[in-house]
Amino acid sequence: MISRISIAIENDLLEDFDELLERQRLGNRSEAIRDLVRRRLIEDRIEHEDGEAVASLTLLFDHEQRDLSEHLVEAGHAHHARVLSTLHVHLDRRLCLEVQVLQGEPAELRQYADQVIGLRGVKHGELVLSSAGLWRGHEDDGGSTRSGGTGRHNHQGSEESS
Ligand code: NI
Repeated sequence: MISRISIAIENDLLEDFDELLERQRLGNRSEAIRDLVRRRLIEDRIEHEDGEAVASLTLLFDHEQRDLSEHLVEAGHAHHARVLSTLHVHLDRRLCLEVQVLQGEPAELRQYADQVIGLRGVKHGELVLSSAGLWRGHEDDGGSTRSGGTGRHNHQGSEESS
């Protein structure tokens, strides 16, 4: 059973979307939109697992946007999501690329990301959540080499810095 829906979308956005579908051979609009919805649903499933998750939040923003830097810092301090590390690159005179490594309850990471991405001056943002299950596995084996690992990733006996 299939439902037909109509959605409102800006002309520019639709043109760009069509061009992307054509270039990457992603099928028709319906297929592509279904894929996006499925991906979001999978993320939602990760978000509702028990326990903490880790994530990376990539942000592209205009640092000349009034008060944006202050708002970003405030959001990072005020939220339950913990910002473990931040990478900041000045792309040009105005644009900054920032990647934040986060840890916390998945729903809180999502909430934090939505808040930050929604700030005026943030041009693009994307949260990539790692499954809570993967994270728990990492705790259990103490981070030692796993099958297929290179052996480079062994934290045993080392002090974790924060
Ligand atoms: Ni910058």
